Amino acid sequence: MEEQTRATATDGGGPGGAGRVDEERITARAREIGAAEMKALVDNTRRSRALFERARAALPLGVASSFQAADPHPIYLSHGRGAEVWDVDGRGYYDFHNGFGAMAVGHAHPKVVEAIERAARLGTHFAVTTEATVALAEELCRRFGLERVRFVNSGTEATMDAIRLARGVTGRDVICKIEGSYHGHHDAVMFSVTPGLDLVAGTADAARTDHLPASKGIPAVLGDLTLAVPYNDLGAVQRLFTERGEELACFIIEPVMMNIGIVLPRPGYLEGLRELCTRHGVVLIFDEVKCGATIAAGGAIERFGVQPDLACFAKSIAGGTPGGAFGGRAELMDAIGDGIAQQGTFNGNPLVAAAGLAALTEVLTADAYERFARLGTRLAEGCRRAIAAGHIPAHVVDLGCKGCVSYRPEPLVDYRSFLETNAALFDASWAWAVNRGIFMTPGNEEQWTLSAQHAEEHIDRYVDVFSEFCATIGT
Ligand SMILES: Cc1ncc(COP(=O)(O)O)c(C=O)c1O
Repeated sequence: MEEQTRATATDGGGPGGAGRVDEERITARAREIGAAEMKALVDNTRRSRALFERARAALPLGVASSFQAADPHPIYLSHGRGAEVWDVDGRGYYDFHNGFGAMAVGHAHPKVVEAIERAARLGTHFAVTTEATVALAEELCRRFGLERVRFVNSGTEATMDAIRLARGVTGRDVICKIEGSYHGHHDAVMFSVTPGLDLVAGTADAARTDHLPASKGIPAVLGDLTLAVPYNDLGAVQRLFTERGEELACFIIEPVMMNIGIVLPRPGYLEGLRELCTRHGVVLIFDEVKCGATIAAGGAIERFGVQPDLACFAKSIAGGTPGGAFGGRAELMDAIGDGIAQQGTFNGNPLVAAAGLAALTEVLTADAYERFARLGTRLAEGCRRAIAAGHIPAHVVDLGCKGCVSYRPEPLVDYRSFLETNAALFDASWAWAVNRGIFMTPGNEEQWTLSAQHAEEHIDRYVDVFSEFCATIGT
């Protein structure tokens, strides 16, 4: 970690600082600071720039996945250990990006490394189920209250297979998702991902059927099969189910909406959904790709006490390897093999199973969740103090090993409220943090992920850097 000058967190105290803010002035200041910080970032990351130039010749946008592309260029990492990562310029960062939330175990955790090394010595792949894979399936069932699971290789595959299963079992083709939600990049869920205001305005009551695919190459006609309703609006679901419930195979939802910052479910919302889905024979699918094993040992299912029919997992359940799973009620899952295809060469791969098992049984233990809660709250409270002191139009969400600052004074309730967040403030804060040794996800739709290897030192550094930012930009 590079030695940095430490600022002291300012305790402004008192709520509602954001309400007194002259947002236009702060936004103008954010643009100014953001531009200066971006310039500094380019100066600080010259080797990343050179690798970017080289990578562009072999990889579109110079990256392995379009989510890794970033302005002014991606920061290419060389390695990570514990709560830290290093870039190709040799700069060290405290890592709050954590592989888009897949690294709740932290980097190169000795238990995970040992499990992978042991498994590798015994053969890296057979396309035959091993005992470790069975044990991981048992652990997932135990944690999340599932009766059966099947393995996949990513979150995209998990939601794709769960939706296929729901369609196969119900014999219905239409699915419903949440407006502005992300469930991976397969065709069925690539509608209403990041719709503009023009596409959502005035449609609070209607499930959208005329939205555009989120990518070229997806037939627009598939939009007829994917409806979307706003998050946290049970009335919209009720109306849709009354009108078209018999056409609906499933309702897929991130129980805590996490691809627009973090949006918590209103009290009773998930319970209401559960009840409506049961009444209309619609399969309720929780997408726990981000929540599972992070916001509680048993994810949103445990935290909110609502059991879906099927749930999808990836990211942190696999100890930093490319694994995923979906599972749920035996009555549904056992339809696999009865005319419903679910397969894949690498599903349940022994390296992934060994890493996942070590992560869930040896690292992400009850102690780890207590630590996440303690450190997460320390971080969130530090950020809240800084926001109040600088009168920044922002709020903080604190949820176990996840949390975020969103640049809107009031908490978000749905995608439409996310469209009101201040992008200039986020951009400036991101470059500011990276230049001071805090590695964060490039995009205001993301959130921080703590790892089992984070300590108070890392949290306090984040708070110091953020406080300095708020004091510089605020009033
Ligand atoms: C909620 C949610 N579902 C599904 C996915 C897709 O997962 P993957 O990138 O592993 O395909 C993501 C990825 O960020 C996600 O956040």
